[in-house]
Amino acid sequence: MARPKQPPLGSLLDAPAVREAAQALVAAVRAEAGERELSAKGYERALREIGRMRGRPLPLALLSGGTGRGARVRLADGRTLLDFVSGIGTYLFGHGDDDLLETAVVAAAGDAVYQGHLMPGAEYHGMLKALLRHTGPRIQHGWLSVSGAMANENALKIVLQKNAPADMIVSFERGFSGRTLALAEITDKAAFREGLPLSGRALYVPFYDPDNPHRTLAALDAHLERYKGRIAAMLFELIQGEGGFHTAPPEFFRSVMERCRAAGVAVWVDEVQTFARTGELFAYRTLGLEDLVDVVTCGKALQGSAVLFTRGYNPKPGLIAGTYAGSTVGLAVGTRIIERLESEGYLGHEGRVALLGTRFERWLESLRKRMPHAIGPRSGTGAMQAFVPFDGSPEAAQTTIHAAFEEGLLVWSAGSRPAKLRMLLPVNTTDEELESGFTILEKALRRVAEEFGWTC
Ligand SMILES: Cc1ncc(COP(=O)(O)O)c(C=O)c1O
Repeated sequence: MARPKQPPLGSLLDAPAVREAAQALVAAVRAEAGERELSAKGYERALREIGRMRGRPLPLALLSGGTGRGARVRLADGRTLLDFVSGIGTYLFGHGDDDLLETAVVAAAGDAVYQGHLMPGAEYHGMLKALLRHTGPRIQHGWLSVSGAMANENALKIVLQKNAPADMIVSFERGFSGRTLALAEITDKAAFREGLPLSGRALYVPFYDPDNPHRTLAALDAHLERYKGRIAAMLFELIQGEGGFHTAPPEFFRSVMERCRAAGVAVWVDEVQTFARTGELFAYRTLGLEDLVDVVTCGKALQGSAVLFTRGYNPKPGLIAGTYAGSTVGLAVGTRIIERLESEGYLGHEGRVALLGTRFERWLESLRKRMPHAIGPRSGTGAMQAFVPFDGSPEAAQTTIHAAFEEGLLVWSAGSRPAKLRMLLPVNTTDEELESGFTILEKALRRVAEEFGWTC
């Protein structure tokens, strides 16, 4: 008897035979990989070799061995660490998530490893549809790409073409937008553009200062006056990631965005790091700013990247393309991540991402009670959290990161003056994982206090 026809764009995992085979493959790989580990010497040798090939060592002695679970990563020598950084934001459901791995192996067993813009497949279609379900009514189009920087390059070209001959971009001080030549100039960090030729077209305004909230608008007005007709766009990172997890109230962004719109300056939001971590897929929606945004980029947790834009910012043919839109696995898993966020209660004011933020705050607060001098101000939202350790010096942050690593917890840094400890938590972090993470963090902070002779 002929099988009833299935919709070609439905999930192949819905077919019981495919699901079973995928489960069996994931289980077999996990069992086999779980049996393999490098000796301590072999681990060191592998890291030395990687360092030699890269021309510098890795920042932490980290080589993943696969077969992690949830917030726990298993290293190639068999050690297990709690990973509260998620590859700087990419492992949204932590390590070894069965459903995402099964989605990945099915996508990998299909026709092609990568998909491009000439002949997209079902996974490309699925991801664009999933993204555009969340952008709000103004943003109606999108192009996929493979990295946050590529999405931002596309955004940059889109706003420059639309608003030509305006050729300047305003962004926030301490912002980070990627590592291409143009983005290294827009990024406000001298070390990231050292030795590079600059175009002189990047302008900066201070980020939100609660003691002087009008500073930003005053600086923007000064640029608008001085460079009349030359500013094409303002780039907004709604929670500054690399720059130090700075947040601002929606009224602040609204006033700055409204000023941009009134001046004919495009509102471009970079959500590469905030994507899926603030309670909605896009932080501009968490903050209620969807009526003001023209162009938005996302990446990291998406397992690929995209630039999404209004009809008015649809570029002329030929401006953006590129061979690859993404790997078939990345497109399928990114789409599945969005579906899981939608169907498993992660989104919304009272969703699991928002709740994770509240749970994290509670743990940090209780640690602060025990160590008031070690835990400075907290910042961030939902699944992106940071705090200032001790005096906020780079030594305090770096030594704590290394001590936590030795004790079994991965955290990372953000910003300088003050330097913070940054955590990009898996959205499904359990209470047990949070409790273990904070126990390790406390140990690490006590070690650092002892080493420097600081009080906790
Ligand atoms: C806000 C922001 N924009 C852009 C990027 C660049 O993304 P990618 O490293 O994928 O090129 C990053 C990466 O950290 C980021 O945090």
